[in-house]
Amino acid sequence: MKKLLFGANQILTCESKSKGYKTGSELKDVGLLSSHSIVIEDGFIKDIIPNNSIKDFSDYEIIDVSGKIVLPGLIECHTHLAFAGNRSDEFKMKLDGVSYEEIALKGGGILKTVDSVRNISVTDLFSLMKLRVNEFISQGVTSLEIKSGYGLNFENEIKQLHAIKLIDETYPIDIIPTFLGAHTYPNEFKSNHTAYIDEIIERMIPYISKNKLAVFCDAFCEKTAFTADEVDTIFNVAQQYGLKLRLHTDQFNAIGGIDVALKYNSATVDHLEVIDDDGINKLSGKEIVSVLFPGMSFFLNHQYAPARKLIDSNCIVALSTDYNPGSSNILNLHLVMQIAALKMKMSIEEIINSVTINAAKALLISDKVGSIEIGKQADFAVFDTDNYADIIYNVGRNLNCMTIKNGFVIYSS
Ligand code: NIG
Ligand code: FE
Repeated sequence: MKKLLFGANQILTCESKSKGYKTGSELKDVGLLSSHSIVIEDGFIKDIIPNNSIKDFSDYEIIDVSGKIVLPGLIECHTHLAFAGNRSDEFKMKLDGVSYEEIALKGGGILKTVDSVRNISVTDLFSLMKLRVNEFISQGVTSLEIKSGYGLNFENEIKQLHAIKLIDETYPIDIIPTFLGAHTYPNEFKSNHTAYIDEIIERMIPYISKNKLAVFCDAFCEKTAFTADEVDTIFNVAQQYGLKLRLHTDQFNAIGGIDVALKYNSATVDHLEVIDDDGINKLSGKEIVSVLFPGMSFFLNHQYAPARKLIDSNCIVALSTDYNPGSSNILNLHLVMQIAALKMKMSIEEIINSVTINAAKALLISDKVGSIEIGKQADFAVFDTDNYADIIYNVGRNLNCMTIKNGFVIYSS
């Protein structure tokens, strides 16, 4: 039986004229439809019709969204939620003026979480992750990327990817797994970087590719992590093994990550807080998504990525939480959207497109999700208000009242 998502006050389609992303002034358009309903068949969007055109309801199973706002299911395109442990001690140090990089150099930071992840069972890790996934679903997220990167050896990177696989098997939302073995150097390879890179390219990548444990291979190009040349070596092999690429770069130092990302046709460059005009020019007009993290800048009191300049230079911009225990302990995509409005000078429409169609582009899934268009998956986030500006205006609140995945209500409040 067909389903009818009936009675929305506003539907924000975020459709991109089949391009699969939006840039520049296109971001000002959220594809607003007033007083429309959505016909769903077999989990896909079959039609979008005016509320007053429906004469016979007996054909449909009704999902009542009368008076509410319907968005495409939100796409959370960058998280590190497969972590264990707690870094509130480092948070306190940061409040006292010690920087994130100083903490990393002293052996804290990512390596502290690595200790916790190495000492937890896959089942316990899975339990911790479930709470976080549930929270994202309650915010309207229907596609979610999750990275490894806190194992930093064969056994524990694979353990994290197995926990991510369990999440994928448990939840109806789309889970996109990313291998981030090149997050930083583990202590045992501190003075032998080549040996750790060999471990990544000779053991981890072949196994992960063979067992289909990740879609993407990511790396962290930074003074405290991997050089551009080291990333080049890893990307070269990852690409040969069929993994898609993405890169953390220009977070604290611009050391050539953008060039490597472009060389290997990376799907994204993530962070960009310190990108300069030269870097922006290189990304301009290219089919690579700049994934920005206003929550991370807020949490670390770090400079914000130049969202305005990137948008005005025709770069594809997406937004995400970067949810992790060290630089962005913010398990709230709405708050991130709100910070983008208040601190990055992005408009409400630009923000909504950046967590839907453009975030889908970042994950290379914008042909299936990220906008409300006939033929796409029936994934929706329903907000309990009659005006979409309220989603951003209500800072710190979650107005999402229903999450729908492939036509099924998977959350309602
Ligand atoms: O994206 N920049 C590197 N990685 C994460 C932080 C990870 C951590 O501190 O645990 C990030 O900010
Ligand atoms: Fe990250």
